Amino acid sequence: MRSRRAGVVLLFAALLVVPARAAEAPSPAPAPTAVQAPAAVQAPPAVQAPTAAPAPTTVQAPTDAQAPPADRAPIAAQAPPEVHVLYPPDLTFSSEPKLKVFAFRGSKGDPVLPVVNGKEADPLEGETFLKGEVSLVAGLNLLRVGGVDLRVFVLPNAIMGSFRFPSGKEGEELVFRAYRLHPALDDGCDGCHTLDGGKLKAKDQKEACYACHNDFTKAEGGKQVFVHAPVASGECTGCHDPHFATRPKLQRLEKGCLECHDPFPTTGTVHRPVGNGECMACHNPHAGPAKKQLVRPGNALCLGCHKEPHTRHRSSSVLGTMTRVPDDFPREAGELACAGCHVPHQSPDARLFAKPQAVLCKICHQI
Ligand code: HEC
Ligand code: HEC
Ligand code: HEC
Ligand code: HEC
Ligand code: HEC
Ligand code: HEC
Ligand code: HEC
Ligand code: HEC
Repeated sequence: MRSRRAGVVLLFAALLVVPARAAEAPSPAPAPTAVQAPAAVQAPPAVQAPTAAPAPTTVQAPTDAQAPPADRAPIAAQAPPEVHVLYPPDLTFSSEPKLKVFAFRGSKGDPVLPVVNGKEADPLEGETFLKGEVSLVAGLNLLRVGGVDLRVFVLPNAIMGSFRFPSGKEGEELVFRAYRLHPALDDGCDGCHTLDGGKLKAKDQKEACYACHNDFTKAEGGKQVFVHAPVASGECTGCHDPHFATRPKLQRLEKGCLECHDPFPTTGTVHRPVGNGECMACHNPHAGPAKKQLVRPGNALCLGCHKEPHTRHRSSSVLGTMTRVPDDFPREAGELACAGCHVPHQSPDARLFAKPQAVLCKICHQI
């Protein structure tokens, strides 16, 4: 992880809208007033405004500030900018009573106060990119953010991906889902978005994602790296949701690799890890040290799981007279290549043979 977080955090700090709503918050434990504003914090008057400070040239600054630009004037009359809630979506399940809220609006406006079960909560921080946190109760919560109603079900300490709740209507259930958030959201939206004429625009993904994550197309120590096509073209969101997802590692695709690749035939012999959908036992989803993004090259890939496969057919040395290994049969460091006789995914023939047995054996055996 390369980090750009400090800068982003600073930017957010600058956008903070300081909440001044203590009076409205139903606070069971009001802060003692004595804690507020200890005298030491106030600047002693003697320090203020030393006579040397006001320079005559600063006269310009206040005039600038006082005259608002003409195009700003009608803002008060306009309808408040619409708030789009990114998180939580309706029907969210949470195992914690505290829930983060992320939202966005096209232009600045009044503070946005989430309403939790009818009570106003602390305003969201920020002016266009908004974030905050709300405290919920166990059970069903009704959350209203920027006029949008959202249902959140809280079951403290529960470990589950979804929660079913009778809707009240005959036989109907509401399915609440738990989401894993991308930690990048905590740093704000502007790591990946710009505001373009009040519209949200996603930055180039290579630029946005590699600002915090290692560039998969660059191998360490000058080694060659074989990159998966959608990664090379920077389509990270082909596989990942940039914000949050129900699946681990922000994976968005239900069928994984098979969302883009044709499934292998299920007839004949299917290699067990392929049948189990464990494509990543052999392929890296981003880039690998061998062609086709394989995690290991050649025989080493197979020997990673088949520690001791058959001892014959490893060496090409011949004792008898009925066998001759052609020079062009694939070899690897003195051994026969597994791929010369087996395919990795599926074969119409037994033992994942690369060719029908009658043909394959005759390459070397005169029988
Ligand atoms: C890690 C990068 C990243 C961060 C951080 C991020 N976004 Fe996005 N966002 C994207 C990308 C990339 C897309 C384009 C989605 C696609 O290609 O499917 C997108 C799309 C969107 C969209 C368009 C509709 C949709 O859901 O696809 C909205 C709205 C949005 N983001 C809001 C936000 C808000 C609000 C924040 C901050 C709370 C935020 N995003 C933070 C990367 C990010
Ligand atoms: C502002 C920094 C930042 C940006 C920009 C960013 N990420 Fe992340 N991302 C993080 C952090 C922090 C983590 C958690 C630590 C880790 O796994 O490296 C993370 C984790 C992830 C994970 C693993 C999540 C998990 O559940 O383990 C994925 C996948 C991911 N990011 C994809 C992306 C993609 C795709 C983009 C571009 C659209 C992107 N990130 C942009 C900071 C960022
Ligand atoms: C073909 C689908 C695919 C594409 C395209 C893709 N990823 Fe991934 N990515 C995955 C899968 C699958 C995983 C989970 C790997 C695992 O579980 O070991 C993952 C994991 C990650 C992780 C977490 C790594 C870790 O070790 O925890 C990050 C970060 C990430 N991807 C970033 C990106 C970025 C940035 C891009 C775009 C440059 C991208 N991915 C493009 C499929 C993809
Ligand atoms: C978002 C779509 C998408 C997903 C998901 C995806 N791929 Fe790909 N993959 C492609 C594209 C596009 C190519 C390049 C075109 C081609 O050769 O088929 C490619 C190429 C490949 C290649 C090289 C093909 C060749 O003949 O050189 C392999 C191997 C591969 N993908 C494996 C995987 C694996 C394993 C997964 C799951 C981890 C996966 N892909 C998920 C889009 C995808
Ligand atoms: C046991 C290891 C292994 C597993 C598991 C595996 N592959 Fe492969 N895959 C390979 C090897 C080895 C090649 C290279 C074959 C070649 O070069 O002839 C390959 C090649 C590919 C190719 C390139 C085109 C082709 O058919 O040669 C694609 C696409 C691909 N694999 C997708 C997948 C998908 C999708 C899965 C999961 C369903 C998967 N692989 C599971 C080892 C594996
Ligand atoms: C991720 C682990 C894994 C990898 C890597 C792997 N295999 Fe397998 N292979 C298995 C499992 C599991 C089985 C089924 C159990 C068994 O027979 O040992 C299997 C079975 C086989 C079979 C017997 C199939 C049958 O039904 O008769 C052959 C042949 C085979 N593998 C060849 C290979 C070759 C060649 C490679 C390298 C391209 C390879 N394997 C890589 C896990 C793996
Ligand atoms: C010259 C052809 C040939 C080569 C090269 C070859 N095999 Fe085989 N393999 C066979 C034959 C034939 C069988 C059927 C069982 C037997 O006769 O030993 C087989 C069976 C298997 C099996 C099924 C389990 C068993 O022992 O019956 C596995 C696993 C396997 N091979 C893995 C590998 C691996 C890994 C490599 C590379 C290191 C490899 N094979 C190289 C011909 C080959
Ligand atoms: C790439 C060449 C090659 C291919 C293809 C091949 N073999 Fe072999 N096979 C050998 C070699 C080399 C030996 C060792 C012979 C020797 O020492 O005389 C051998 C030995 C054998 C033996 C043991 C013979 C003995 O006397 O101990 C059997 C059985 C065998 N092979 C069966 C097969 C079958 C069945 C196939 C087809 C599925 C096959 N082989 C494909 C090269 C091959």
